[in-house]
Amino acid sequence: MSEISEMKVSKIKDGTVIDHVPAGRALDVLRLLNLTGKEGFIISLVMNVPSKKFGKKDIVKVEGLELESNQVNKLALIAPTATINIVRNYDVIEKKRVNLPDRIIGILSCQNPNCITRKEREPVIASFIVISKKPLVVQCEYCGRLMNEDNVIKQLVR
Ligand code: CTP
Ligand code: ZN
Repeated sequence: MSEISEMKVSKIKDGTVIDHVPAGRALDVLRLLNLTGKEGFIISLVMNVPSKKFGKKDIVKVEGLELESNQVNKLALIAPTATINIVRNYDVIEKKRVNLPDRIIGILSCQNPNCITRKEREPVIASFIVISKKPLVVQCEYCGRLMNEDNVIKQLVR
């Protein structure tokens, strides 16, 4: 239990707690999940609280929400340290680590305008190899163009 962060926001009854989000990324996580606040979910954010494991972390709590697998996959790119806690009737009933795969298929698009994956007539799905996890660097399998962490985040939270 992380006592200091525990005091900041209350426990949720049913929903999802995305814990161990890199400090400062909570708003990116909301953007990524397409949560604007207008959907009506009860949402709590905690930012830059002390964490034993990472120094500092953010936490995103959403009542009534369950993440879809494609959302979990995208989350791995902007919050690779995150833990997804499914809460039912106040208990954590499931805890999943997000997983940054070695290859990312169909989530990111290549920034090279001449890449074959950008040609509308070619049914080629963009695919990137993860060449560094920290800091994140990915490389297009088709044209070799590199994309760094900032570019990846910008593309995902657009
Ligand atoms: N949580 C919550 N509402 C609940 C239960 C848990 O908001 N009803 C939050 C906790 O505040 C914590 C996260 O969900 O941020 C994970 O809870 P728990 O597994 O109890 O905490 P830890 O054991 O500290 O988790 P970890 O080992 O993953 O750090
Ligand atoms: Zn490319």
